[in-house]
Amino acid sequence: MTDRYLVVGNPIEHSLSPIIHQAFAEQLGHELVYTKQLVTLGGFVECVREFREAKGKGMNVTLPFKLEAFKIAEQCCDLARHAQAVNTLSFEAQCCWGHNTDGLGLINDLHNRHGLKLAGSKILILGAGGATQGVLGPLLAEYPSRLVVANRSVAKAAALVAKFTSHAQEMGVSMHACGLDSVDESPAIIINATSVGVDDQDSLDHLFARIPVRGAFCYDMSYGNVARFKEWSEQRGAAQSVDGLGMLVEQAAEAFAIWRGVRPQTEAVLARLRSQSGHR
Ligand code: ATR
Repeated sequence: MTDRYLVVGNPIEHSLSPIIHQAFAEQLGHELVYTKQLVTLGGFVECVREFREAKGKGMNVTLPFKLEAFKIAEQCCDLARHAQAVNTLSFEAQCCWGHNTDGLGLINDLHNRHGLKLAGSKILILGAGGATQGVLGPLLAEYPSRLVVANRSVAKAAALVAKFTSHAQEMGVSMHACGLDSVDESPAIIINATSVGVDDQDSLDHLFARIPVRGAFCYDMSYGNVARFKEWSEQRGAAQSVDGLGMLVEQAAEAFAIWRGVRPQTEAVLARLRSQSGHR
């Protein structure tokens, strides 16, 4: 039987994961089927059970199910444990493994594709939700000199930073939480991990008025027409502004490697997505 994989989320219709994984499979001469499925908010556990029973090999999990996926995984890799979120499930004979490839996807994109030196850098991350939680561990592992989490709700940023304080201390990283209007230093790298732009039309001029983007490398974890921070930071004098399409392809490559034992090349797949979708 052909190996089957699935990406689930809500919403899911715009997911590029099937295209990316089919492209990886073609590149490596693997035969597999990768589809997407919309799951109702209470339907995640049942969907996993059914897919596993039908001998599905692996699943990618996107919003809003990454925390539920962490809870149902029987074993988790260290990155997923730190993030307390899972974006990749791997179904083995006796065990459902949970992984989180988002952080590595981000680091690979920043480091390998965009040539950024993260060690010793001052990094500011905007947002304190699941997207931020998924990447803090891998960011700390790069030894930045300072990592600040700025969020609309300061209490949420503080709670998230508290979870990572001992890890940060071990790595010798100074880590802080603040509000979006009280960022006190100019970071070299700013990463937008808020969901602004996904479902609201707030003015970024208003929301991010105090974010020192001028001269910074600005990374938007969103892509496509919701990458509003990329566009906005470009207009506000960022040294460079990029979207998160590269991160998407890199996290997919990590998931493919977990499932199939070989890591695909990402550059050609990313170039193809950019030319097909018009995402610059
Ligand atoms: P995700 O899992 O994608 O991170 P989430 O957990 O809902 O989603 O978190 C969304 C993040 O975007 C949060 O940091 C949220 O800020 P609050 O914690 O203050 O709610 C941020 N966010 C969403 N919409 C926002 C807006 N209009 N202005 C500022 N921050 C916003």
